[in-house]
Amino acid sequence: MPSNRIIIAGGSGFVGQALAGSLLAAGYEVSILTRPGAARNLRGSAVSWDGATVGDWAKTLDDALAVVNLTGKGINCRQTDANQREIVRSRVASVEVLGEAIRRCNLPPQSFIQATAVGFYGDSGDKVCDESTPPGSGFLGDTCRQWERAVADSLTPGVRRAVIRLGVVLGRNGGAFPPLASLARWFLGGAVGSGRQYLSWLHLADAVRIFVAAITRDDMSGVYVAASPNPVSNGDFMRELRTAMHRPWSPPVPALAVHFASLLTGINADLALIGQRCQPQRLLEQGFAFEFPELGAALRELVG
Ligand SMILES: NC(=O)c1ccc[n+]([C@@H]2O[C@H](COP(=O)([O-])OP(=O)(O)OC[C@H]3O[C@@H](n4cnc5c(N)ncnc54)[C@H](OP(=O)(O)O)[C@@H]3O)[C@@H](O)[C@H]2O)c1
Repeated sequence: MPSNRIIIAGGSGFVGQALAGSLLAAGYEVSILTRPGAARNLRGSAVSWDGATVGDWAKTLDDALAVVNLTGKGINCRQTDANQREIVRSRVASVEVLGEAIRRCNLPPQSFIQATAVGFYGDSGDKVCDESTPPGSGFLGDTCRQWERAVADSLTPGVRRAVIRLGVVLGRNGGAFPPLASLARWFLGGAVGSGRQYLSWLHLADAVRIFVAAITRDDMSGVYVAASPNPVSNGDFMRELRTAMHRPWSPPVPALAVHFASLLTGINADLALIGQRCQPQRLLEQGFAFEFPELGAALRELVG
């Protein structure tokens, strides 16, 4: 009988738990690779690992339908050398160790699905970026380049491989939406910086559907931009958010204020001030239909 077991490394988080819920509802068996002492009450059965060395957990990969890797230290933290090193290390090490574990399998999993980020393009202004666009510079671009290089280097013959380059995922229980919605609720939802930086976004429901497609469709391999076909400027995003939340115009937030807030709170100013304008070219070519292609409808669903 074909395997229906799916392993989600780093699956205890925002995207992973939504994906696990959807897979369990569809009848798949789901195991979550999670560090000891991390989140409990998971959707899916927890399997302990350290994200860096092959251990007992590696047996769970044998004869799996798919291994999905969502591991990585969150990037919204104070940008110290130590934090930046851990952001890169946690991503690259998890790819390398999963590659090593897959090579040791008697029956390797059928596919390896890796999340990365549209930060790959760095701060790319209003240039339209798709899968054929080369990487950008800066910490985010460098991180994503090393991350994707590790995936390319850990190729196992016969294992289908897809890289899902995620835009900003909008969901009620994690990621960028809850803090942005709080700002708008308190009448602080103005455009940030110049307001012209692009935001490539997608609804969590579409992120989950893209991972499910990558797991189940044999014709999906290589890199995919995973963002709605309608990226918007930061100014337009904040305006749509205020509309969805029935809030009036709010004054813009100068870049200097964001840098100051970043010093005080440790938030990563880059996340608000730089952007990418991405097109999910390959997903559209392969017939993927977004449930929420338009920002207004996505935000109304999240606010509602
Ligand atoms: N959410 C977005 O908008 C977005 C956008 C672009 C790209 N991505 C990428 O997509 C992936 C999933 O995103 P997410 O929002 O679901 O992330 P998340 O909620 O932060 O979950 C990531 C998981 O990685 C594990 N982890 C965290 N720090 C780690 C470390 N230092 N070493 C090893 N494992 C660590 C954690 O699992 P345990 O604590 O259970 O071990 C955590 O649940 C991430 O790689 C992220 O960079 C997300």
